[in-house]
Amino acid sequence: MSDLPEHVRRNREHWDELARNFVAAGERGWRNNTPNWGIFGVPESDVRMIPDDIAGKDAIELGCGTAYVSSWLARRGAHMVAIDNSEQQLATARRLQQEHGLDFPLIHGNAEQVNYPDGSFDFAISEYGACLWADPSLWVPEAARLLRSGGRLVFLTNSVLMTLCAPEEDDRAATDRLLRPQFGLYRVEWPTDDSVEFHLPHGGWIRLLRNSGFEVEDLIELYPPANAKTEYKFVTPEWARKWPCEEVWKVRKRG
Ligand SMILES: C[S@@+](CC[C@H](N)C(=O)[O-])C[C@H]1O[C@@H](n2cnc3c(N)ncnc32)[C@H](O)[C@@H]1O
Repeated sequence: MSDLPEHVRRNREHWDELARNFVAAGERGWRNNTPNWGIFGVPESDVRMIPDDIAGKDAIELGCGTAYVSSWLARRGAHMVAIDNSEQQLATARRLQQEHGLDFPLIHGNAEQVNYPDGSFDFAISEYGACLWADPSLWVPEAARLLRSGGRLVFLTNSVLMTLCAPEEDDRAATDRLLRPQFGLYRVEWPTDDSVEFHLPHGGWIRLLRNSGFEVEDLIELYPPANAKTEYKFVTPEWARKWPCEEVWKVRKRG
């Protein structure tokens, strides 16, 4: 633990503490084998996070939490590996694997440094996982290393606009006010807890992804479905129907 980078150690403590609050969502995700994404449950048909040809492919989830995303991919025939920085999150994932009769490696570790050889995977995915909590200058090149030429990386995280408008208080929702500058946006800490997040403007993502060997294929700004609700307080469906609160990047490793 002491030799972990400071942000990884802090995020490990944060997620070990928070894990109990994510058990129910994990159970729902494992039960419901119809993929939907982000805090409003945007249907897979709108986003197409999972490639049509995933069956038989080697895939890794970076920051899997309770690993419901991995369960969806495994059921579609992917050979899954899932890594997470929190043993407590993985404890839920391990129990749910047993309950649902699915078995794939669940690795306790940091997605910035994964103990697999170069070119081990065809597909990498992260939904609010390493793509939000790990340092992009480390996890993006690591994802490129792990993928084979032509392999795809797909990740979902908060939109830039959301990050600029999100109030510091836990119980307040974003308004139409920009609350922080975009220039210099990278490592973000909130006063309400001890975690460390990473948010990049679009130019920063494009430059980092391209410099790491990826071609950007798509950037999808998510639109909440009809009757969308969320238990999260930082945004309302009304806000998220005017401005994107989440975005999905789809990139492919040059080869
Ligand atoms: C919000 S959960 C994401 C999982 C799931 N998709 C979800 O939305 O509940 C965030 C996860 O990222 C993990 N995480 C944070 N930093 C990480 C890192 N450096 N490497 C691997 N996992 C990390 C946390 O431990 C946590 O389980």
